[in-house]
Amino acid sequence: MLLSSRVKGISDSITMKLNEKAIQLTEEGKVIYNLSGGQLPIKPTHEFIEKIHHQLNFLKSYQYSPSAGFPALRKKLINHFVDSRKLPSDAFENDWDVILSNGSKHTLYNALGALIDPGDEVILLAPYWVSYPEMIKFWGGIPTVVKSNVFDAFVPAIDDIKKAMTPRTKAIIVNSPNNPSGVHYSDAWMREFAQLLKEFPDLVVISDEVYSDISYFDPKPSYFYQIDHSLLSRTIIVHAISKTLAATGLRLGWAIAPGSVVSAMAKIQSQTTSGPNSLIQRALLDFDFHFLESFLTPVKNHIRQNAATLREKFREAGLGHCWYQSTSAFYFMIDFSRTPMFKRFKPDQDHSDAIADELLNNEGITVVPGSDFGIPNTARISLVIEEVPFQEAIIKIVKYLNKV
Ligand SMILES: Cc1ncc(COP(=O)(O)O)c(C=O)c1O
Repeated sequence: MLLSSRVKGISDSITMKLNEKAIQLTEEGKVIYNLSGGQLPIKPTHEFIEKIHHQLNFLKSYQYSPSAGFPALRKKLINHFVDSRKLPSDAFENDWDVILSNGSKHTLYNALGALIDPGDEVILLAPYWVSYPEMIKFWGGIPTVVKSNVFDAFVPAIDDIKKAMTPRTKAIIVNSPNNPSGVHYSDAWMREFAQLLKEFPDLVVISDEVYSDISYFDPKPSYFYQIDHSLLSRTIIVHAISKTLAATGLRLGWAIAPGSVVSAMAKIQSQTTSGPNSLIQRALLDFDFHFLESFLTPVKNHIRQNAATLREKFREAGLGHCWYQSTSAFYFMIDFSRTPMFKRFKPDQDHSDAIADELLNNEGITVVPGSDFGIPNTARISLVIEEVPFQEAIIKIVKYLNKV
């Protein structure tokens, strides 16, 4: 059958292929250390599970919700946002709204669908989350990539963003805390970014904040619109329960955005999925966000501990120059290009897929190759697995990195 050119332009995920291979190797009896996980390996807090349980008893939990989500929950989310970002109650000038959708990936699709005309450019800051370029292309847009590197702990320079701006630039996606680097951009960076936005008054910002609750190293994440509230009028803030509540499978995300953008997104949503999951919305409406702190504290302690193991093992192995302090989310990017193992490879090409394959076949470790994130010759590892297997996996990785 002849497939559409739109779908032909979208890449398959290498992650899925590696996962399939990892399953096959496990079935063959090999010990596999899975460092490719993009989710917390725990259940949500029991207070939230109880709310889901309770909502199972009501007819409304099984019926269509309004396209943009239940109004009371939308109100609750905007209030929580204003509180948690320490914004003044009048930070939003009247025309503000929230739309819930089936996971923040879905939110981002709707947001880009509401913004992009064919040929519009969207700036991505590499390393970027794998799905952004594919989503932009799906809507006919063109991703423009601004790079960073391990020397800057993967924080892109504001000057490079400025250089990437063209008359066709419609939007920029900022993802802080960042997947895959596991860092959040500093307050100073956000200040400079706010300045830059003043120079480009038509630029729309999509601020993907799905990891904002998972930060284990001070100072905590801050945002450009906290410095200049007027920037909120062209910002789409994206959040979800997936990472904050360890609930990736429940599929609930949302955007806080100007009313006109929310209406456009709701139009797309009403003609695609109708509306978000009613049961989970009703449980979230009942859930007290104050429980998040006690739920996330041990999670953050665990990630901090694994990040410390990483630092120790890299230093012990003489690889300190490839290490940077991760601060948030639950990832770290390994840069292969300045390690002894890389002498076998041609430096001007990207070998991250081949290296990820080698790590799986020879060392039994699954990582996500950096090619997916726009940074060649790197891989993303996840810091969420238990301390002992994590330590074993890192010992194997540093040995591999030092092998000539
Ligand atoms: C940066 C980022 N944004 C958005 C998402 C989408 O999450 P979900 O659709 O589960 O809400 C992810 C998932 O990994 C992510 O890493």
